[in-house]
Amino acid sequence: MGAKTCLLVVDPEVAKLGISDKALESLKKRGIGTEVFTDVDPEPYLDSADKAAELGRETGADLVIGIGGGSAMDTAKAAAALVGNKGEAAQYVGLNLLPEPGLPTVMIPTTAGTGAEVTFTAVFTNRQTNAKGGINSEHMFPDCAILDPELTVSMPPNVTAATGMDALTHAIESYTSRSSTVFTEALALQAIRLIGENLRRAVFNGDNPHARESMLMGSLLAGAALADAGVGACHALAYPLGGNYRISHGLANAVLVANVMEFNLPAAQRRFAAIARSLGETMPGLSERSLAQRAVEAVRTLSRDIGIPGSLQDLGIPRSDIPTLVEGALKVARPVENNPRVLTPEDAVQIYEKTF
Ligand SMILES: [Fe+2]
Repeated sequence: MGAKTCLLVVDPEVAKLGISDKALESLKKRGIGTEVFTDVDPEPYLDSADKAAELGRETGADLVIGIGGGSAMDTAKAAAALVGNKGEAAQYVGLNLLPEPGLPTVMIPTTAGTGAEVTFTAVFTNRQTNAKGGINSEHMFPDCAILDPELTVSMPPNVTAATGMDALTHAIESYTSRSSTVFTEALALQAIRLIGENLRRAVFNGDNPHARESMLMGSLLAGAALADAGVGACHALAYPLGGNYRISHGLANAVLVANVMEFNLPAAQRRFAAIARSLGETMPGLSERSLAQRAVEAVRTLSRDIGIPGSLQDLGIPRSDIPTLVEGALKVARPVENNPRVLTPEDAVQIYEKTF
């Protein structure tokens, strides 16, 4: 890519484990300058993107490499974009607000979840309002992604579980999205199959290379599907849990997804039946409706098996906050619009209630 100085945005835990050292060594061997930024919060605030961009500008970086999960990759993508544009991250939260392309980027995921290595979005929390919002722009697509399952082997079981459920949610929501296409549907169904077959094994036997590789590929395909088709109501309902209570994005989706599927089922029965088949729920003679219901149950069982908490109460969220959660969720415009069933404020209340 012709780079002379690289800015590496690395998750601090990943840096501690020495996972980024290999990348640093190989860059240095080629005589490429390196600057490392590790001030990445989980569910990052907008200012971490500004700080990373500042380091990129100061050091004259001409390439940004993101190493970590969604938080590190999103910070890297936003930092690269900000170096090519004036101002701060906050002013670009929205759709297609970046006028100029930024620096080229390379993404190296160490979780199998977000698919951020192939999406055009980077999600941040606003420190003042606690609202989560994305910088969404054509200029945010990474130029290169390196998928090495070995880098995901050290991920602990609870992180494997939560991020894996995020990837599954991407696949399910993009498959049932109103913006889906034949192309994204093919990607999503294959992602559902890979994740359904391998998430338990990746959680319970983390050094199984085949399970790790399949999860990474599943998360990639789901990311590619959501890049075109978008996500749905589960992501909208999950955002305020991250913004207001710092619940990790994967966990927030994981707790809600089966209940959101149940809500959407009557509006997309055939699609949910196809999801059930991809999850291995094939029983001859079963009606389409029963098969669709099995998709919901299969996801619920998977979630329970891998230790995802069963309710919002388990996550310590006060029930009295439902009105605030609903208000936040309905502001997440694109996922709400893509959802196969219209989501009213009353529906959102009901889904949250059920998840308590
Ligand atoms: Fe997600």
